Amino acid sequence: MIKLSELPVSYGKVHLPAKVALVVTQKPTSGYNLITIEWFMRTSLQPPMFAISIGESRYSHECLQANRYFNLVFPSLKMKQLLSLCGSNSGRDMDKFTVAKVEYIQGKLNKLPVLKDAVACFECEVVSEIRSGDHTIFIGQVHYSWQNEEEELFYYQEKL
Ligand SMILES: Cc1cc2nc3c(=O)[nH]c(=O)nc-3n(C[C@H](O)[C@H](O)[C@H](O)COP(=O)(O)O)c2cc1C
Repeated sequence: MIKLSELPVSYGKVHLPAKVALVVTQKPTSGYNLITIEWFMRTSLQPPMFAISIGESRYSHECLQANRYFNLVFPSLKMKQLLSLCGSNSGRDMDKFTVAKVEYIQGKLNKLPVLKDAVACFECEVVSEIRSGDHTIFIGQVHYSWQNEEEELFYYQEKL
């Protein structure tokens, strides 16, 4: 029987298993940041677009206000540790690329890193944004896409 439930408990039940992704942004000064996200979706086929929802308190939010590009990275099984690091540490306190020794090649759109271990990577330009409570939904148009057929997509099951 369906029963009234506290929101944090219900929220916890509806999101697993989940697809997770990494978002690469450019820091306001120099260098790049990475954040783990679960709240993203495709929003258009022609032109191809993705929406990502980023909390206002995140350093990534600050980066996206300063530089209007992001790479949406679909992680492989070997990127579990990186997802955990990027989902529990802020770019304000550490350079995640350096700490995790992330290997990448330079992208084509705004030269943002394309991660070598990823299953797929989409280079996006922010074309609009919408406030959604304490998050902002950034909508990005895909200009270039990359894929790695040797890797398998990572799904978030219980804990990273
Ligand atoms: C599995 C998982 C999913 C997450 N999803 C989101 C999300 O969709 N949006 C968001 O703003 N933060 C999300 N977070 C939290 C951020 O990854 C986390 O706060 C991160 O440390 C922020 O990094 P930054 O300050 O460098 O941007 C998620 C964390 C985890 C572990």
